[in-house]
Amino acid sequence: MARAKISIIGAGNVGASTACWAAAKELGDLVLVDVVEGLAAGKALDLTQAGPIERYDAKISGTTEYAETADSDIVIITAGLPRKPGMSRDDLLAKNVAIVREVTAQVSKYSPDAILIVVANPLDAMVHAAHKVSGFDTKRLMGMAGILDISRYRAFIAMELNVSVEDINALLMGGHGDDMVPLPRYTSVAGIPLSELLSAEKIEAIVQRTRDGGAEIVSLLKTGSAYYAPSAAVVQMAEAVLKDKKRILPCAAYCDKEYAVGGYFVGTPAVLGAQGVEKVIEVKLSDPERKLFEASVAHVKELAAQVDKLL
Ligand code: NAI
Ligand code: 2OP
Repeated sequence: MARAKISIIGAGNVGASTACWAAAKELGDLVLVDVVEGLAAGKALDLTQAGPIERYDAKISGTTEYAETADSDIVIITAGLPRKPGMSRDDLLAKNVAIVREVTAQVSKYSPDAILIVVANPLDAMVHAAHKVSGFDTKRLMGMAGILDISRYRAFIAMELNVSVEDINALLMGGHGDDMVPLPRYTSVAGIPLSELLSAEKIEAIVQRTRDGGAEIVSLLKTGSAYYAPSAAVVQMAEAVLKDKKRILPCAAYCDKEYAVGGYFVGTPAVLGAQGVEKVIEVKLSDPERKLFEASVAHVKELAAQVDKLL
């Protein structure tokens, strides 16, 4: 059986780390693309030379040419500017929509049947842009954010309780912005509701740290944003698709009638398998949770309107 082909557009911090995790998991052959001459080729060669040590077999190549991405099974779009201290993800919209437009036009031309996973920020708006440009069936388009946000939340809970991260089960909805909606009511630790283990104040502090999770790392790094956890998250999505795992993972998925969103990509749990987003899971929300979710969706819609003006 032929190996899967995964193209990663943008060989910067997130793109290169994505390639690293994907190679380690032997998900398939990898093509890295970047506008900067030599960058993708250099990182691809370096990763190829790690293969004998880490014991993975994969063809890893780097290029500036999209023709080499032809007939990819999955294309991951990480090309775009990251934020710097003091910037919000939304401040990246104008520059990144131009990049995502150009990149999506190229990858959809060479891989018309691929599944696209968008990573560039502001995330929900960039998936909207990729949809408008590619015209792909909405099942074959998804954005990575929820797994990252929920992983931060799970890590903070595990740190607070001094228990394994593996035992934290949680849910998060809404856009990948400061108004994301972690759902403590749907959080459990080895089956025990979180509210039985932590006070309401502690839980609220963890929720807030999760919302600020990206900014906390930007303020430490100063030159860019997080990439190890984001790339691990995108590889988890790619793996669910390539292995047809039917995993329920939070991601930016197209919601029309679902939650009465009306045709936008927003964060929701969804079943990911060989067809892409195979089903959006509709979670019952309490009135306060629904209000928070609706506020987050309203924000996503405002950003999508800005994208529409720029495309
Ligand atoms: P980076 O600056 O390290 O890498 C971006 C790469 O994209 C650079 O190598 C650059 O040369 C390349 N690039 C720019 N324009 C291009 C074009 N037209 N075609 C091909 N390549 C192009 O940035 P990093 O840290 O990798 O972040 C990438 C994007 O992902 C940012 O927009 C960032 O905000 C976003 N991000 C989103 C996350 C999420 O949860 N959705 C998490 C982490 C990052
Ligand atoms: C993050 O949350 C940059 O959106 C990215 O780290």
